[in-house]
Amino acid sequence: MTSPATSARTPGPGAAETENILEVEHISKSFGAVVALRDVNLTLRRGEVLGLVGDNGAGKSTLCKIICGFHRPDSGRILLDGKEVHLRSVEDARRHGIDTVYQDLALVPQLPIYSNLFLGREPTFGGPLRLLARHKMRAQAKAYLDSIKVHIPDIDAEVERLSGGQRQAIAVARATRQQVKVLLLDEPLAAMGARESALIIDLVKGLAAAGQSMIVIDHNYTHLFELCDRLAVLQNGVIAFDRLVSETSLEEMTEYMVSEYRRQVETGRVNGPAQP
Ligand SMILES: Nc1ncnc2c1ncn2[C@@H]1O[C@H](COP(=O)(O)OP(=O)(O)O)[C@@H](O)[C@H]1O
Ligand SMILES: [Mg+2]
Repeated sequence: MTSPATSARTPGPGAAETENILEVEHISKSFGAVVALRDVNLTLRRGEVLGLVGDNGAGKSTLCKIICGFHRPDSGRILLDGKEVHLRSVEDARRHGIDTVYQDLALVPQLPIYSNLFLGREPTFGGPLRLLARHKMRAQAKAYLDSIKVHIPDIDAEVERLSGGQRQAIAVARATRQQVKVLLLDEPLAAMGARESALIIDLVKGLAAAGQSMIVIDHNYTHLFELCDRLAVLQNGVIAFDRLVSETSLEEMTEYMVSEYRRQVETGRVNGPAQP
């Protein structure tokens, strides 16, 4: 969780910083007959860690993919630093300072760790200078991983030799190696053991402490309460709950989700448990 000191960072001299780094306004998105998002409004404050939760199919990944430039919304707009942006691709969003770590990581398993850290942003040296670039990339990769406390013994190892948690750490490191305005993490802890989850949680906490604005999608409320400043629930394509972690509790959140589930079963929106 971000300490009050970091979340209330004062802007540098002359910097006219808006309170919200990201604003999503009236975003809707359908895939054929499936309405994934209906008129979604969401803000991310500067230096804030926002947890996004919701059932499978609620639209979390779709929202994430719209913010990172992968999908175009049917309607609505995105403001970054108070200015409207039209994100044309993932690359375009990256240039604007929005980066994502997907569940299906965009790493190249056959390449060494250090190359993966520079994926898509390799220093451009040609001809005989390639060797130098490689040397430089290795050194920078090592220094960066050390700085975020990701300790991987062999930077030359191919990514395919790493555990799931280590790969996730490399994917997060790739996204944050260059300063980003908004970092999106879509289920960074999915299918991970306790030790690997701890590695990622520590990494995310370190980024949060450094003031990184982030949206984290996860199913585990305990993790989210540990990591986030605010929680939003996406339900059937609508933001149904949006509260500061300091103003809610694990109990209230669980209670809310259970009563919502019951209400949906009663109104026939979802099927209850199968009858024997
Ligand atoms: N590319 C796609 N094509 C068709 N339907 C999709 C696509 N992506 C998502 N959907 C549908 O949109 C809804 C929201 O999905 P998603 O955003 O992946 O939910 P979540 O990440 O919350 O589980 C689901 O009904 C899903 O099947
Ligand atoms: Mg998803």
